[in-house]
Amino acid sequence: MHPTVAPFPTTRLRRTRMKAPLRALVQENALSVGDLIWPVFVREGQDVLEEIPSMPGVFRRSVDQVVEAAREAADLGIPAICIFPYTDPALKTEDCAEAWNPDNLSNRAIRAVKAAVPEVAVMTDVALDPYNINGHDGFVENGEIVNDRTVEALVKMTIVQADAGADIIGPSDMMDGRVGAMRSALEASGHHDVTILSYAAKYASAFYGPFRDAVGASGALKGDKTTYQMNPANSDEALRLVQRDLQEGADMVMVKPGMPYLDVCRRVKESFGVPTFAYQVSGEYSMIAGAAAQGWIDGDKAMMESLMCFKRAGCDGILTYFAPAVARALS
Ligand code: PBG
Repeated sequence: MHPTVAPFPTTRLRRTRMKAPLRALVQENALSVGDLIWPVFVREGQDVLEEIPSMPGVFRRSVDQVVEAAREAADLGIPAICIFPYTDPALKTEDCAEAWNPDNLSNRAIRAVKAAVPEVAVMTDVALDPYNINGHDGFVENGEIVNDRTVEALVKMTIVQADAGADIIGPSDMMDGRVGAMRSALEASGHHDVTILSYAAKYASAFYGPFRDAVGASGALKGDKTTYQMNPANSDEALRLVQRDLQEGADMVMVKPGMPYLDVCRRVKESFGVPTFAYQVSGEYSMIAGAAAQGWIDGDKAMMESLMCFKRAGCDGILTYFAPAVARALS
């Protein structure tokens, strides 16, 4: 044997990794500021910014400060914010009536933002948990979370949010039939252009812990949410949920949490080809922010990597508490 060519690899995948301009040319996915939705917590008061202990760098803000956050979003090019209320415990009841009070905290925040910064889209969260004395997303009767009566309440909540100016309604309750009921009520009340981003595949997750602190629901919650949120072991079921919500009129769908569920994001995107979002939830944020604060990881790099991976998994956008930091890093 007299080989004329040395037995070196002809395919050297490192060639296109060797130089920065080559790496840029072959990069398959990109993260941009237009992919971001920024979740923001609102509380009562004036000029208040209160850091959430389990979410370093994330604040509960009075309505005026939510407006400031919306201005920051507009300046940074972030297309949307999502408003979550920290409700006064005195307003939490069995019948959750505060949820459809047109002047509740969340609706006042929506109105203030739309008046001051109309170019930023406002997304809402539709579920009873901020207003429910027992912390559940639906009404509890004889120890059970009841579906249909909850859907009627969620519809009332949806309409007052749309009246307040919400651009995107986010049902996060996981009741059956809520998207269809909300869509008909929105059409019937003239809100044809109000969109629905359904939390279609929402799992019963331990990663929501810091969020429940942030909205003051941790102490309230009795039991768990496994009779309505999904089992983390399942993904065929996620496809059925997405299909159902699309048939009922959802414009966009979401998988939640994000990082441990990238396979679900990929299956949803490939199966339906619809606008697909992931929610990088509070526990995911706090793992990165907490480890970075200890000096155990490079927080900025981990943040950017985690968000790029959502794009690689097929997501069109991401709800993330890192939104302003990411936007700054991208600019
Ligand atoms: C409530 C709701 C939750 C989150 C968003 N909407 C918590 C839950 O279902 O218990 C979690 C968001 C996060 O952890 O960042 N319906």
